[in-house]
Parts: sequence; structure tokens; C-alpha cells
Amino acid sequence: MTKHPMTSPLPGLIRESFVERFGGQPLLVKSPGRVNLIGEHTDYNEGFVLPAAIDKATTVAIAPREDQEIHIYAYDLQALYFGSLARIEPSPMLWPDFILGVVQQLQGRGVELGGFNMVFGGDVPMGAGMSSSAALECAVVFALNEIFSLGLDKLTMVKLAQAAENQFVGVNCGIMDMFASMFGKENHVIRLDCRSLEYEYKPFQMEGFRIVLLDTAVKHNLGSSEYNVRRQQCETGVAMIQQHVAGIKSLRDVDMAMLDNYVLPQDKDIYRRCRYVVEERDRLLGACEDLERGDMKAFGAKMFETHQGLSNLYEVSCDELDFLVKAVQDNEAVLGARMMGGGFGGCTINLVKAAAVDKLIADVSARYLAHSGKLMPAYVINIGNGTSIT
Ligand code: GLA
Repeated sequence: MTKHPMTSPLPGLIRESFVERFGGQPLLVKSPGRVNLIGEHTDYNEGFVLPAAIDKATTVAIAPREDQEIHIYAYDLQALYFGSLARIEPSPMLWPDFILGVVQQLQGRGVELGGFNMVFGGDVPMGAGMSSSAALECAVVFALNEIFSLGLDKLTMVKLAQAAENQFVGVNCGIMDMFASMFGKENHVIRLDCRSLEYEYKPFQMEGFRIVLLDTAVKHNLGSSEYNVRRQQCETGVAMIQQHVAGIKSLRDVDMAMLDNYVLPQDKDIYRRCRYVVEERDRLLGACEDLERGDMKAFGAKMFETHQGLSNLYEVSCDELDFLVKAVQDNEAVLGARMMGGGFGGCTINLVKAAAVDKLIADVSARYLAHSGKLMPAYVINIGNGTSIT
């Protein structure tokens, strides 16, 4: 997706646009973007993550058609797509793929769909690391499940949305983004075990501080980035250890001694990637204990550590992200900060004392402009609910 929506269309506008274009009364489904507090690049290594749904969402207005056609209007992009269920293939416009991928997954499971009309839009900034694509995929699968009475449960829908991204869009992402979008709960983070998919909601006390996203305005494109390469490097590290130790399935099962003994002598880069993941896996468990004790200072310190790991060992940061983290590192109003999501652009996530938020944004954006020549959008986020009918 290329265009950055400047407005935040309310579901009402999406409904109006649908009625104007297609007539009739659509079903409206809303699915949020996400933040991740800690546990980055751990989902596809069967570790833990700590995401939350945010109060920015994609809304889909949808109604079945009598024929087999698919008509979609992208409200923010002001673009149209016409297609047919009989021929689901990637579109040169790219944005339809997030919808068509879901349709293809359902078809692949033998589900009988009919044609449909759809309008979608929202205020999850695109390419900023808040998972606008997962929000759209989750809204679409939820909406199709409703209008065609497919009887799918939420976890099945999450897996379908992830498979759409993996197989149709071509990004080999983990399950975190879709899970957070679908299962989000107001004022709670989700501690998700990406191996067993067991999860627990943990209250996230926002009293006295805010979650602030500072946007590098560098658009990441995970598909063409090193994301898939990092995944492979982790698998290579696991394969090196498997030659010596039985019962190792993923980096979840690995400890530092195994990395030192079996990976380091063979490949230093693979070692650094794997070391970050193993450290981050354990760091998240410590961070959850901090949360339970209400020790946000200790929690924030771990966020800074994560950033160092992502920047120096996993190497998925970039100059702009490093600059934004460094800019707040010695600011006593900032408890923690780090790059968020896949990397190579997008936002940093910051825990900031509430009273200092405005000043922080003003200061850092001025310094960022001087450093990079770019404006720095900033978002003060609340933790919201997951996918729902609206
Ligand atoms: C992207 C992917 C997620 C996850 C993060 C990194 O957001 O979609 O599955 O791997 O990067 O934690």
C-alpha cells in the first residue's frame, strides 16, 4: 500500500460510501492495528510476544452479491477493484491482495463463497509498523465469516489471515499481528505463547503514562526487506544445533551454550541473529514479571535493551529508528523506547510520562527534522478491543 491516509474515516463514512456506491445495507466490521510492547521477532521462533490492539482500526463494509463477482472500493486510496471468485490472482495494485489472499485461503479449504461488494478504509497508518495489513485481513475474514455464515472460530480466522499474508502477499510473517488484531482487549496486553498459542490478558496500567509512537516516516516494506531472510537465518541456526542436540524444534528450545558450541564456530552472523532471539525470549518473561510487580521502570529498561539487540545483533533497525531511540534515551520522562515491528522503518514505541508527552513530541520532531529532513508523525495510543461488528 502506498498512500498514507490523512483523515480517519469513521465507520459511518465507510457505510455512507458503500450505500452511495452499491446501495443496500452493508454489514460493518472493524479490526484494529496493534502495538507490541516487547518480544520482537520472536513469534516465528515459537517464543512469546506482548502485543495489544490499538484504538486505530480498519473498517470493512460488506454485502453479498447475487453473482460471483467481487467489487471493492478502497476509500482512503480512492481506488476500485473488480474481479471474480473464479479467478483469484494477485493484483498489480497490490492493495487488493490482502483481501483476495483471504478469499483464496477460504476457497482452498473448500468453503463455498458468493460474490460480494466491499468498501474499506480506516486510520491505521500504512507502512508505519502498526499492522494495517493484518487489520484489513482480519476484518475481511471476520466479515466473510459473518455474511456467508461460515461458522469459523476466531483462532481459525487468525490462522487464515496469516496464511493469506504468507502465501498470497508473500510475507512470511508470524502470527502476532493477526492474533492481536482479532483478540485485542481494552486496557490489556496479550501474553501469547507462539508455540502453544495459549494466551493470557494482562492488565496494562496506563495511569500516569502514555504509549507514544514516533514515526520515522520511512515506509518499510516487509516483502522486499530482509524479513524473510531473518526467518531463514533463524532456521539455519536451528539446523546447526539439531545436528548435535536431539529434540530441538525452534529457537524456543535453544540456550546460549548451544549457540556458543554449535553456531558460533560455524557462522558469526547466524550466531548474532539467534543470540538476539534467545535473549529476547527470556527478556520478555522478565518484562512480564516487571508488569506484575507494577515496575514500569524496569519494564522500560528492557525495551531499551531490546532496541540494542534489534539494532546491533538482529540488524533490522535503520539510522532513523536509532536516532529516535537515542533522542529519548536520557530523557527522564521516557521509561522505555525501541523500534517496533518488522523493522527498517516505521515507528518507535515509547512509554512516556503523561505530563511530558506534548513537549517530548515537539522536541524530538524538531530534532528529527533537522537530522533527517523529514516530518515525524506521532501517535498517542490507547489500547482497544479486537475485531468486532460495529
Ligand atoms: C512483523 C510481522 C510479525 C512479527 C514482527 C516482528 O510485524 O508481521 O509477525 O514477526 O514483524 O516481531
